[in-house]
Amino acid sequence: MVAEGFTIREMTTGDVDFGLSLGEMSGWNQVRTDWLRIVNYEPQGCFVGMINRTPVSTITTTTYGTELAWIGMMLVHPDYRRQGIASALMKHAIAWLDERQIQCIKLDATPAGAPVYEQLGFQNEWNFHRYSREGEPSETFVEATSSTFEIHSIDEAAFGVNRSNWLQRLAADSHAETYDSDFGMLRSGRLATYLGPVIAEKSSTAEALIGQLLAKTNGPVFWDVPGPNATAVELAEQFGFQQVRPLTRMWRGKKLVPGLVEHQFALASPATG
Ligand SMILES: CC(C)(COP(=O)(O)OP(=O)(O)OC[C@H]1O[C@@H](n2cnc3c(N)ncnc32)[C@H](O)[C@@H]1OP(=O)(O)O)[C@@H](O)C(=O)NCCC(=O)NCCS
Repeated sequence: MVAEGFTIREMTTGDVDFGLSLGEMSGWNQVRTDWLRIVNYEPQGCFVGMINRTPVSTITTTTYGTELAWIGMMLVHPDYRRQGIASALMKHAIAWLDERQIQCIKLDATPAGAPVYEQLGFQNEWNFHRYSREGEPSETFVEATSSTFEIHSIDEAAFGVNRSNWLQRLAADSHAETYDSDFGMLRSGRLATYLGPVIAEKSSTAEALIGQLLAKTNGPVFWDVPGPNATAVELAEQFGFQQVRPLTRMWRGKKLVPGLVEHQFALASPATG
């Protein structure tokens, strides 16, 4: 049973301040541009949970064609937890994606979120860790690259579907580096600069790209490293990063879209894959 007076409405860009405040309460790293990018990409697929007239929770969806979609920004205000609100919003988002006949829904679960998702039929794909490097706390802003970012087909095989429209938007808010068909990005964060995505066919190129990106900042950096990519884990340790928290990539649907995790050296974001 969900809390009394609970309703769900579409999120607008006017809700971003509320989303940011919930993120801050949970120690999340997203900045305004991260929320705006997600809401502007899929305005009808992002929702706010309300108790009477008070916003209390958020959830977003990001679709990549009809093959794959991501659920993210699942946050409930601490005063309203354990009242079924996350479960109700999740069911609403899943129904919205089912209406659009999305074949596979994924998300990246925190330990607090995983039990909610398991009850809704999500299963584990693989585990990963957020890694962190310490640095000058005031230096978490990254200037976006001004040149147009060219999307290479390598990403489609690595991620599992074509997400070039999404990557163009991400690149517009990031510093991007490319080498042949491999690429990497670095963007501003609230607590730390965020390294990712880094997509590469060769580990030597991944290492060079990551080195170039890390040279852009003296600030703290977060890097979400896919657990099954042993080379990426080694690189994170080699670059002086340490594990800070565990996450689980989960999926639900007709058919898993696996991608090639060995070509994913840094994830793009737990909110969108
Ligand atoms: C995770 C979160 C969204 C859950 O929101 P919520 O509204 O409290 O979740 P619900 O009330 O719908 O929980 C549904 C069920 O999931 C399970 N569950 C929820 N939170 C749990 C927790 N912390 N530990 C164990 N089980 C939990 C319980 O079985 C719960 O049912 P019950 O309360 O009847 O036992 C909320 O705790 C939150 O915002 N956390 C911080 C941000 C975060 O980690 N978000 C998840 C991102 S992946």
